[in-house]
Amino acid sequence: MIEGRKVGLRLMESQDVWLLYRWFNDQRVLEDLGSGHGFFCVSMEEEKAIVERMLQDRKSQYFMIVRKEGGEVIGIVGLANIDQRNASAELRIIIGEVGQWDKGLGDDAIRVLLDHAFNAKNLHRIWLRVAEYNDRAISCYRKCGFKEEGRSRHDHYHKAAWRDAVLMSILDSEFRGS
Ligand SMILES: CC(C)(COP(=O)(O)OP(=O)(O)OC[C@H]1O[C@@H](n2cnc3c(N)ncnc32)[C@H](O)[C@@H]1OP(=O)(O)O)[C@@H](O)C(=O)NCCC(=O)NCCS
Repeated sequence: MIEGRKVGLRLMESQDVWLLYRWFNDQRVLEDLGSGHGFFCVSMEEEKAIVERMLQDRKSQYFMIVRKEGGEVIGIVGLANIDQRNASAELRIIIGEVGQWDKGLGDDAIRVLLDHAFNAKNLHRIWLRVAEYNDRAISCYRKCGFKEEGRSRHDHYHKAAWRDAVLMSILDSEFRGS
């Protein structure tokens, strides 16, 4: 377990499929995800296959977010598309327990993951993509030091309109300085 202030991160395991299945069938969780995720209203069979692919993917590392107070598993956070040549990776996060949003837990989980990425894995740049209308996520990423670096225009279709994805990143020097 990697410890933060409010949450700890433990490696994802096959048994976590039950939680992921529930979260990725909750409309409130899916609502603002945009196109940058591979999960949408999945069957248990599909979810099991997705989890096994995630566990076997050598370019990814996923952790379950555990609330220190009470020990509840509330979400998943991880690095995807780990690129050793360029020392970069993509950050992905979902807090699946909706009642746990807006308590600073996402912020803490991201900081723990960034510390792991920069100080244990020696990465240089962590990037992410987020739907332009996902104000909660953008606010959380800004708090953690991510800067907007561009947009994918008309990235996906959402609620009767083409919507952009915002690209954000943070460098190791910025993380150490913040
Ligand atoms: C996005 C997510 C990871 C953020 O985690 P969290 O624990 O809820 O975030 P935090 O509490 O650390 O920070 C959220 C911030 O957004 C603010 N916020 C909430 N709703 C907002 C809104 N509609 N507009 C602007 N800011 C908003 C909160 O006030 C808080 O800021 P503060 O700490 O300055 O008050 C989590 O909510 C989540 O998983 N959501 C569903 C899935 C998702 O969108 N994942 C990201 C995909 S890119």
